[in-house]
Amino acid sequence: MENTLQIVPRSVGLIMDGNGRWAKQHDLSRTDGHTKGIYHMISLVAHMFSRGVKNVICYGLSTENLERPKEEIEHIYQLMIDVFDLFVTTFSEIQASVKYIGKLNALPEFVRNSMLRSEDALRKFASSGKTIYIGVAYGSRHEIIDAINAAIQRGESVTEESFLASLSMPLEPELIIRTGGEQRLSNFLLYQASYSELYFSPKLFPAFTEEDLDEALAWYQSRQRRFGLIS
Ligand code: IPE
Ligand code: IPE
Ligand code: MG
Repeated sequence: MENTLQIVPRSVGLIMDGNGRWAKQHDLSRTDGHTKGIYHMISLVAHMFSRGVKNVICYGLSTENLERPKEEIEHIYQLMIDVFDLFVTTFSEIQASVKYIGKLNALPEFVRNSMLRSEDALRKFASSGKTIYIGVAYGSRHEIIDAINAAIQRGESVTEESFLASLSMPLEPELIIRTGGEQRLSNFLLYQASYSELYFSPKLFPAFTEEDLDEALAWYQSRQRRFGLIS
């Protein structure tokens, strides 16, 4: 589809929910659902860049998700290392860089190494203006508490601006899209989402298409953002 958008959000958060239910609907295992979902993420992110979005912040795995059965989490780790390596080819073509946010020391070393490999390989595109951020073992509460403790240790008081800048995700997405039908943030960007437009799709993540994404971007254009003022 042709890009006819007049107003494009600079940063978009993506809560990729519904892999397990999608798998169940297709008589597959939850792990198959994650495989489908994680590869699907790459094409959706590339599509957002083609529409003019500069930063895509994907919620890959929450701190709470780490408490899921070991078999599911280990499968996700395995998938991640394959996909993070694939990022290097895909995102080199479109000249985008990648950054990981979250409680990374909670992850096994082989996952962290794969993150470093892809971050390093794509660092040369950091000035291109296109970045994909992936939250892995990410939790907004944890991110906030870490930033508070760091400020206490420095003996500094904070302002709204300096606090935002000290978070692992200092961007405030204009738009957050959540697939899978739930209408909540589930510990994603609690501070940064103060004025985000929230778009909830009933579609399960693997079934959320590029056309659905275009609909979300078109919906964003129709929003009137008041930031507490009057129009
Ligand atoms: C989202 O899909 C991916 C992760 C949280 C890792 P889910 O695994 O939560 O899928 P549902 O919500 O059970 O369908
Ligand atoms: C949110 O989905 C986390 C990710 C998509 C990574 P969950 O499936 O964990 O959220 P809840 O449990 O429905 O709130
Ligand atoms: Mg879920």
